[in-house]
Amino acid sequence: MAKALIIYGSTTGNTESVAERISRILQQTGIDVSLKNVTTAKVEELGGEYDITILGSSTWGDTDIEFQEDFAPFFEELDKAKLQGKKVAIFGCGDTSYEHFCGAVDLLEEKMGQLGALLVNEPLRIDGDPGDAQSDIDSWTEEVGKKALI
Ligand SMILES: Cc1cc2nc3c(=O)[nH]c(=O)nc-3n(C[C@H](O)[C@H](O)[C@H](O)COP(=O)(O)O)c2cc1C
Repeated sequence: MAKALIIYGSTTGNTESVAERISRILQQTGIDVSLKNVTTAKVEELGGEYDITILGSSTWGDTDIEFQEDFAPFFEELDKAKLQGKKVAIFGCGDTSYEHFCGAVDLLEEKMGQLGALLVNEPLRIDGDPGDAQSDIDSWTEEVGKKALI
């Protein structure tokens, strides 16, 4: 059975709700999913036994890009992650009214490139209430699920 690891950071619950939706959809396709709040995750777990690793953070800040507060220390540790050649997908919530829309997603994308990870599709950037983006989340997740199984 294919295995997926989802790690998310969320302050008001938006990214958490997206992570839960992604998890449900992947489980429905028969993938074994470990869903973790970043507060309970360790970078050493990334890659490893998982066919795909999925990372999600909302963006905070104003002139500077800031990760969701729990995700920030995790990001600092990411250089230690053994993701070379491993499949990865990225998502995050944000708001286009800010200068750096989903800036955390941009920084994660850049970091995955530096680590030699294989991004399986275009990262998912959600503007505003994720409840209005359900079909985007569903189609993005279906794509990720298919890539995980290849
Ligand atoms: C003080 C503040 C700063 C924010 N900064 C950004 C930002 O720089 N870029 C962005 O895309 N969204 C920004 N947002 C929007 C949040 O990322 C958005 O509300 C998101 O849905 C929160 O997700 P979470 O509940 O999972 O943390 C900001 C929101 C607040 C309240």
